[in-house]
Amino acid sequence: MPVMAAPPLGDRPAHAPPVDKRPEQIRAMFGRVAPAYDLLNHLLSASLDRRWRRRAARAWRPLARGATTLPALDLCCGTGDQALALRAEGARVAAADFCLPMVALARRKFRDRSRRRPGPPPSPAPLVADALELPFGSNSFGAATVSFGLRNVVDLDAALAEIRRVLAPGGQLLVLEFALPRRAALRALYLFYFRRLLPLVGRLISRDRAAYSYLPASVLQFPQRQGFVERMGSAGFADGAWDELAAGIVCLYSARRAP
Ligand SMILES: C[S@@+](CC[C@H](N)C(=O)[O-])C[C@H]1O[C@@H](n2cnc3c(N)ncnc32)[C@H](O)[C@@H]1O
Repeated sequence: MPVMAAPPLGDRPAHAPPVDKRPEQIRAMFGRVAPAYDLLNHLLSASLDRRWRRRAARAWRPLARGATTLPALDLCCGTGDQALALRAEGARVAAADFCLPMVALARRKFRDRSRRRPGPPPSPAPLVADALELPFGSNSFGAATVSFGLRNVVDLDAALAEIRRVLAPGGQLLVLEFALPRRAALRALYLFYFRRLLPLVGRLISRDRAAYSYLPASVLQFPQRQGFVERMGSAGFADGAWDELAAGIVCLYSARRAP
């Protein structure tokens, strides 16, 4: 996959105010927006989100232990779209999220998909679990994906350490996350959309005041590009790199669990 090698210079987001990421707040917020979540994702991204998740899924490479291909883990799975994209690529996927209304929607999608397209690989029903305390043994997975999830976790380094624990050595980490475009004109335009229009549309459809203002705020404070690659490196991941999608409004990060 054409993942851009990390250049030496960091690219940190502009100064942004701290965001309230207390787990109970985050869980409740996603619980409130869950029914409108898919519709808003597709609407606010002009359906590009489907393409981004497919792109992440296609970067997945199976990792075998003996004769068995290790399953993949989709963390912060939300309504399950990233996990389903991985399944479509042939992965056996465990999906987890700490917000029950999101997991309930993911479970329903898993069931519907299995009914419509029966056959291997069988995947367990998505489960309720906190990214900071995963109910899985060490070295269990050949790959982990997190799409638009890590930015919401209260302790990014602890989440990366937990992902590293459950990945087998050499296991792949794929992270989709929003970023700011690098070109100044595009960045200005995007910031206008992100700060003004998106919260307005999000609020009208989800009827949640906070969630779609939280989105741009949380993106602005999350490390981007080289900044995030460095965080993965500090957590014990090697070969960190990223690929820019949609003119740089999203990055697909990849790394491997160092032995
Ligand atoms: C923006 S949604 C992304 C959902 C999905 N991955 C997608 O691509 O649409 C973020 C998700 O992260 C989950 N989340 C946030 N913090 C979490 C944590 N500590 N453990 C598990 N899930 C978490 C939220 O409940 C929410 O469903």
